[in-house]
Amino acid sequence: MLSRKDIFTKCSAFDDAKKVIAVGLYPFFRPIESTLGSSVVTAGRRRVMIGSNNYLGLTHHPRVQEASRKAIDKFGTGCTGSRFLNGNLVLHEELEERLAHFVGKEACLVFNSGFLANQGAISTLIGRHDVIYSDRENHASILEGTKVALGETVKFRHNDMRDLERVLKLTREKYEGAMIIADGVFSMSGDIFPIPEALALARQYGARLYIDDAHALGVLGAQGQGTENHFGLSDVDVIVGTFSKSFASLGGFMAASKDVIHYVKHKCRPFIFSAAMPPAALGAVLECLTIVREEPEHLERLWQNARFMSHELKLLGYNTLGSTTPIIPLIIGEDMQAFTFTQKLYEHGIFATPVISPAVPEGHALLRTSYMASHTMDDLCYVLDVLKKLGTLFRITEQENRATL
Ligand SMILES: Cc1ncc(COP(=O)(O)O)c(C=O)c1O
Repeated sequence: MLSRKDIFTKCSAFDDAKKVIAVGLYPFFRPIESTLGSSVVTAGRRRVMIGSNNYLGLTHHPRVQEASRKAIDKFGTGCTGSRFLNGNLVLHEELEERLAHFVGKEACLVFNSGFLANQGAISTLIGRHDVIYSDRENHASILEGTKVALGETVKFRHNDMRDLERVLKLTREKYEGAMIIADGVFSMSGDIFPIPEALALARQYGARLYIDDAHALGVLGAQGQGTENHFGLSDVDVIVGTFSKSFASLGGFMAASKDVIHYVKHKCRPFIFSAAMPPAALGAVLECLTIVREEPEHLERLWQNARFMSHELKLLGYNTLGSTTPIIPLIIGEDMQAFTFTQKLYEHGIFATPVISPAVPEGHALLRTSYMASHTMDDLCYVLDVLKKLGTLFRITEQENRATL
């Protein structure tokens, strides 16, 4: 029998963050006083932002801001109810139609966040006798969906199609339906999921393929349509996305066949029992969709910046885990070293955040850097200059360390 304990005991005992705060190295929840395209102001000083998901830099595009204001003028500041009942705007419907077309699916459903889209879609689609095959490095919102879902989850090694096949072979027969779920671009490492191979396995083993394209929308594909478009494919069964990154706003969506969307629309609790995405956010996303079509220069600049940084960071001797996307992780080492490194960057006018254990294996804490279309060459050269100095100071980029990292 367990001994009786106050439910809050764990809260007063939790001191991991307090220890880092006490030594002045806490890098989280920094209040941003204003944002200016590629930089932010914190504690009264401008700092170059290299930790944002604003890949196309559209949060400060005058047309996006104007569209957001216009939506408020016409529809007010909130929907004050669920789409199901009183909150369904023509803007939601227009956005769903245009997004479905953009990612090449029959239909689409808009949620209040990407997190809710994953949690809601997965838990609604996966029944008691079904199974999810989930990449080990999937985003937390996918994990949340798998926890809420009634079916079981089998994990496979990150991006490893041999391991996916192994677990399919071993377990597929035990379940009715099956769905393989993975990020299109992984949020920490920037790795791209091998969709062609996963799709072949999905078809061979009678499973559906579900891709969370949060970090691929606006980034991969001819116009930023995402990972499936990047591979020239069209058979992925479910695509989930967010508006909180390239689409400069807040909200999320899932795209799939008409039947699947109709089903989720009428069964999904996080969709039905939550007030609708607000007009200002809808106006912004709708304008972003127009801009990605009309102004390809943002995507081009994003990739110029990403390729430049990837090349230069490797030249400096950083281990970037082979990333080929605008998310470029830099392996730092121990958690405490990552905190100190981040603080030094901050003091030099650069805003970034570390990723520490248990999100990454112990001793492999990293700095998750990400690049945007709005970074200027001056911004990037400044960042490289500081990273060069700190890499040497922290002995991260020394020749002898390169082989072991
Ligand atoms: C891969 C992935 N999926 C889903 C989400 C959640 O998106 P949102 O910010 O819209 O809740 C994120 C955001 O961090 C993400 O990185």
